[in-house]
Amino acid sequence: MQPTDTNRVTELELIIDLHKNSERQGPGSKNDTLKALEILNLPTNQKLKVADIGCGSGGQTITLAEKLNGEIIAVDLFPEFLNELNEKSQKLGLSDKIVTLEKSMEDLPFDKSEFDLIWSEGAIYNIGFENGLKKWNDYLKVGGYLAVSEITWITNSRPKEIENFWKAEYPEIDIASNKIKQLEDNGYTLIGYFYLNQESWLKNYYEPMKVRFETFLSRNGNSELARKVVDENQYEIDLYQKFKDYYSYGFYLARKN
Ligand SMILES: C[S@@+](CC[C@H](N)C(=O)[O-])C[C@H]1O[C@@H](n2cnc3c(N)ncnc32)[C@H](O)[C@@H]1O
Repeated sequence: MQPTDTNRVTELELIIDLHKNSERQGPGSKNDTLKALEILNLPTNQKLKVADIGCGSGGQTITLAEKLNGEIIAVDLFPEFLNELNEKSQKLGLSDKIVTLEKSMEDLPFDKSEFDLIWSEGAIYNIGFENGLKKWNDYLKVGGYLAVSEITWITNSRPKEIENFWKAEYPEIDIASNKIKQLEDNGYTLIGYFYLNQESWLKNYYEPMKVRFETFLSRNGNSELARKVVDENQYEIDLYQKFKDYYSYGFYLARKN
């Protein structure tokens, strides 16, 4: 997206524009994806049917395609990100393993028990963790696997400033034991979980985003709305720097009962 009439660009278009042409649209890393795969210890003697929901430009999709035997349906709401993933998968010779699908995760055209594995890094929050667990359960085979990362408090209490910020942004933020209980209450058995380390936030997500701020502002005519988008992201980065010992993404690996 290269907006020419900045007055008509919406905030959502600007957010997409800020996150385009980046390796990832959220905290994470190739090592995190590999670690999650190692914990899952997936069967290797069969082809797997996999959905990667909220795939963005496909940082994790490429790693999954490199590692797994099978087909991945990579879903996102925004074609801008899917186009980037298609380009990458073609360049890497992985396009026979990755099919992109422009759809909302709320309304997926999947069959009951269609998938061996549902993957979703930093995206289930868009429909809410528990709602996503319930909705997606149907698409998994019995014994199928779920891998989701979700913002999670690391400590049982925390300063009000950060508590208030995240409660307003995402009221479902919680400690891992409550997230695990939600998994267990909704037909899954936990296989394992881990927290993303600070490098996955800073080096892989926030620092590259900060580098893009200047070109983002100039290609959007330094508009008030573009500056608002930058200021809000900068505020989130500042809060992370100040309170990074209190929250991270939890990566939850589970099996459908
Ligand atoms: C934080 S990003 C994570 C992207 C990618 N998984 C990663 O870790 O780099 C969340 C993704 O969810 C997508 N998204 C937001 N709402 C969605 C919806 N209703 N259905 C499908 N995807 C959605 C966004 O476009 C974005 O790519």
